[in-house]
Amino acid sequence: MAETTKTAKLTIDGNSYDLAMYAPTDGPEVIDIRKLYAQAGVFTYDPGFTSTAACDSTITYIDGEAGVLLHRGYPIDQLAKQSHYLEVCYLLLYGELPSAAQLEEFETLVTRHTMIHEQMHNFFRGFRRDAHPMATMVGVVGAMSAFYHDSTDINDEHQREVASIRLIAKMPTIAAMAYKYSIGQPFVYPRNDLDYASNFLRMCFSVPAEEYEVNPILARAMDRIFTLHADHEQNASTSTVRLASSSGANPFACIAAGIACLWGPAHGGANQACLEMLREIGTPDRIPEFIERAKDKNDPFRLMGFGHRVYKNFDPRAKVMKESADEVLELLGIENNPTLQVAKELERVALEDPYFAEKKLYPNVDFYSGIILDAMGFPTSMFTPIFALARTVGWVSQWKEQLADPQLKIGRPRQLYLGAAARNYVDIETR
Ligand code: CMC
Repeated sequence: MAETTKTAKLTIDGNSYDLAMYAPTDGPEVIDIRKLYAQAGVFTYDPGFTSTAACDSTITYIDGEAGVLLHRGYPIDQLAKQSHYLEVCYLLLYGELPSAAQLEEFETLVTRHTMIHEQMHNFFRGFRRDAHPMATMVGVVGAMSAFYHDSTDINDEHQREVASIRLIAKMPTIAAMAYKYSIGQPFVYPRNDLDYASNFLRMCFSVPAEEYEVNPILARAMDRIFTLHADHEQNASTSTVRLASSSGANPFACIAAGIACLWGPAHGGANQACLEMLREIGTPDRIPEFIERAKDKNDPFRLMGFGHRVYKNFDPRAKVMKESADEVLELLGIENNPTLQVAKELERVALEDPYFAEKKLYPNVDFYSGIILDAMGFPTSMFTPIFALARTVGWVSQWKEQLADPQLKIGRPRQLYLGAAARNYVDIETR
């Protein structure tokens, strides 16, 4: 916990209360209101947690005004361009960049845990073929608690470690199996001689009938997409994982809760919604119509892939993603991709529009990611599962940090009750 820097004074009905304040490494100072109810008998009110720090953390930092994202202090654009996903996983989990030997050991460990319990194959087969892969993932990841009993004791540090590695290692296998099942193709087992991204591509796109060569350029792009989604501070799904875990729930149940939260279109589901929107717009001449709809208070339509609770500037992940989209499409020889043209023109028009400028709405990570995933051959229904598999390391790192925190308490928000006052039950005959 941080040291007290100064004190804030709150006055209610003439009574004053001193509240400790803490200085973070970076970002706004924080007022400690934990004793407020005990001392003053009042709650604070903050639906959507717009001004509430629910925990302290050393993992990820966002400066939303400047458009900065740091993992353990390292800028995301440097990690995306100079590092790779499993190294970033190590960094998030253990706090420092690994030595060559540590990285090799970690990569071996993850690679050796990529297979799933064979009986889980039957579990997949219980779903309808047309189930959304996110629905399947929520179920299957939750069901891991029924298969891996030796890593569900959260009080055992070794078991916590094993659960973390299992989740990071098996998530690509589970996501790929959800996809294969949805298209009626046989499951493809992982291969230990391939790197994390190449293995995932192979499990998604190879079939037993012919050889499949992983395109190294696509593998690099896939790895970068994973890196850009690895963690993002106390977002909705991460906070869901932390809240679920605060009751002592097992790690697989907690991560399944995170996947369920991520699915929503305001969060990870935005990548699917964004590509579908770009396709619906279809041609640049229809952009003004959609811009007007996004600005219309009476129309629920929003520009998907635009806006963010924290970023009031460019999402730094979107910048790297845009560059990657250009690179991947050029390398695949499809630089005249109509969806990319619509996206670029939509971004230009929106950024020049006073509505978006005043509200500080900029493209977020989901604006360009779908274009790359589509070019790689993924259907839109796989976009959010890919986000989920990449974010698993973030959820797991935050979960581990929370469990190691001596201040851990069950998460239990208060409320502003506006319902009926106490009243007596009325018999049905006299209502
Ligand atoms: N299009 C049009 N107007 C918007 C948009 C948008 N995409 N986003 C926000 N606004 C407006 C909103 O109507 C509101 O206007 P007013 O103040 O007049 O009522 C104002 O901007 C503030 O919006 P908010 O909903 O109060 O802001 P929030 O911080 O609660 O929501 C958000 C953030 C990401 C949910 C929202 O910007 C949004 O729905 N964006 C589209 C979905 C999306 O792209 N989500 C992915 C987020 S990044 C990946 C991730 O973290 O999962």
